Amino acid sequence: MIVTIDGPAGAGKSSAARELARRLGFIFLDTGAMYRAVTWAALEAGVTLANEAELARIAHSIDIKLNGSRVAIDGKDVTDAIRTFRITTATHFAADHPGVRERLVQLQREIAEGANIVTEGRDQATVVFPHAECKIFLTADERIRAQRRHEDMQRRGEQVSLDEVLAKQRVRDQRDQTRPVGALRKSGDAIEVHTDGMTPEEVVNRLEEIVRARQKGE
Ligand code: DC
Repeated sequence: MIVTIDGPAGAGKSSAARELARRLGFIFLDTGAMYRAVTWAALEAGVTLANEAELARIAHSIDIKLNGSRVAIDGKDVTDAIRTFRITTATHFAADHPGVRERLVQLQREIAEGANIVTEGRDQATVVFPHAECKIFLTADERIRAQRRHEDMQRRGEQVSLDEVLAKQRVRDQRDQTRPVGALRKSGDAIEVHTDGMTPEEVVNRLEEIVRARQKGE
């Protein structure tokens, strides 16, 4: 069974999807981590992100391994390195690149082959797994999303103001919704869940309820 969870930045997709996968005994796939990984590898190699040919070469040459919540590139653990503000704001080069997307979509489908999986991103229901059995669109008010992201960053010791996080998030939302390939869009057959005012536990409970109902054929 494939469960897709799409939605805007900061909606709480990653933590909810990870916990949902744990409860169901499914694999968890964080596809945003893959776009971040390509960005990290390109910067590490000294590649100019706007150089499309070089960025495509990086995406095709690196070995990305996702293991639960750990991410490794060519054997090196980059779990924390791909979460910095610098990578977050630079990842649009990889996300906007059709060749990079093609490569990562292919990897995502390979990982899901024959597996029970909870996968989260922007285009999972619309592009990558249009035949998924259960599609969820997770969203929340933009201020709440920015506050959550800001708290996460503060916990990691990154010094960025809430206003700056909100401003950058608006730019990302706009980019996510308008990119020519893999744009963020609610699939017509997805169930929308608004997480405003819900605790993380309540969100996962709701998602589990949706999947269990689908498993029973409801
Ligand atoms: O969910 P996230 O913040 O880790 O995603 C990082 C970036 O990758 C974000 O700019 C959106 C983009 N992305 C995408 O274009 N398609 C996906 N399936 C997942 C993420």
